[in-house]
Amino acid sequence: MHEIAKNIYWNGIKHWTLRNFHGRELSTHRASTYNAYIVRDEKTALIDTVWDPFADEFAASLEAGVGAKNIDLIVINHNEPDHGGSLGRVMELVPEGTPIYCSKNGAESIRKYFHRDDWNINVVKTGDSVSLGGRELTFVEMRLIHWPDSMMTFDSGAGVLFSNDAFGQHYCASGFFNDEVDECELYQEAIKYFANILAPYAPLIEKKLDEITALGLPVKLIAPSHGVIWRRDPLQIVGKYAEWAKAYSEGFAVIAYDCLYNATPAMAAAIAQGLANRGAAYKIFNTGGTDMSDLMTDMFCARGIIVGSSTVNNTVHRSIAGLLDDIRGHRLRGKIGAAFGSYGWSGEAPRLISEHLKGSGIEVAEEPLRAQYAPTPDDLRKCVEFGERFAEAMAAKRA
Ligand code: FEO
Repeated sequence: MHEIAKNIYWNGIKHWTLRNFHGRELSTHRASTYNAYIVRDEKTALIDTVWDPFADEFAASLEAGVGAKNIDLIVINHNEPDHGGSLGRVMELVPEGTPIYCSKNGAESIRKYFHRDDWNINVVKTGDSVSLGGRELTFVEMRLIHWPDSMMTFDSGAGVLFSNDAFGQHYCASGFFNDEVDECELYQEAIKYFANILAPYAPLIEKKLDEITALGLPVKLIAPSHGVIWRRDPLQIVGKYAEWAKAYSEGFAVIAYDCLYNATPAMAAAIAQGLANRGAAYKIFNTGGTDMSDLMTDMFCARGIIVGSSTVNNTVHRSIAGLLDDIRGHRLRGKIGAAFGSYGWSGEAPRLISEHLKGSGIEVAEEPLRAQYAPTPDDLRKCVEFGERFAEAMAAKRA
C-alpha cells in the first residue's frame, strides 16, 4: 500500500513486463499498472481490483494492508477484467454480504462475468453517493467511456477523482505521481492511450468533460486505473482530453504503405517530396514492419493520411487491410486522405483504399494514384504534384 492522500492508499500492481495488452491489439512499450485504491474512514472502501492473473498477489497485499475482513464496501468503476478481474477472489475474503457499488451496466457485467446471484450488488447513477462516515464517495457515470459500465468515483472531502480508464496511461514507473516521472514519456503514453482506446468515443468524451466541468468538483488528485496519478496541476490532463476529443490535429501528414518491391516506396518518396515542396511536414511508415498502435497514435495526430499499397491478389496487402480497419474502428475525425500504389495488371488497391477511407469518414482529397510496374519519371512527377496538391488541401483544412 502506498498512501497517496490522507487515508487514501494505492493498492495496485505494477506489471513491469507487460508489452502487449488487449491480447496483442495494443503495444505497451512502457508496461502498465492496474491501480486499485483503499479509502479509510469509519468505513473502509476498496475501489476497483486488478487483472485476475494477479489475484493472489492482490489478495495478499489487501491482507497485509488493511485486512480483507475490514473492507466494508467495494466500488467497481469498470468491470473489464484488468480492473474487475480479481473481484471473485476478493469476495472470498471480505465479510459475507459486503456491498458492491457499480453502474447499472456494471451490475449486468459482474453477473455475466462471475455468474453469482448471491452478491450484494447496489446500482448507482450520477450524483448518488455512499458515506464512509466522515467522507462521502460520489459516483459519475461514464457510459461508453469506454465500456457501457464505466463510471468514476469522487471523494469530495479529499478532492480525489478515481477516474478509472479515463486519464490513464499504459505506463509503469517507480514513482506514483505525474511530478515523479518524465513528462515527455508520460504524455507519449497518455496520448497513445487516448488515440488507441478512447478515440472512438471522442464525441461522448467531449460532452462528458463539459458535464464534469459543470459539476465544479474541487479536484486535487486524479487517480486513474492505469499509470501514474495526476497530482501536479491535475486538471492539465482534463484540458488535454478536451483538445484530443475534438477533431485533433498537429498538422502533419502520414504516408503509410506496404509493398512487394520498390515501386510503391518510390511513389511514397515522390509524394513526400511534393509535401515538402509546399512546406508540409510528414512521416513515412512501411506498415509491414511498423508497430500498429504507434502508427495509430500518429494517425490520430495527423491532419493528412495517405495510404499506399501495391495490388496483391486483387486487393491490398494484409497490413494495409488491418490499418484500414483500424482507421474505421477508431473513427478519426477531421482528417483528409488519399490513396496510391503500384500494380502489375489488375491494380485495384488504390481504389479500394480510397473507398475505404471515404467510408471511414475521411475526406478524400485526391483521386487514387497508380503506377504500373516500375514508375516512370512521368509517374513520379505526378506523385510529386499529388503531394503538392495534398499539402495545399491540408493547409486549406487548417484555415
Ligand atoms: Fe483498463 Fe477498460 O480497462
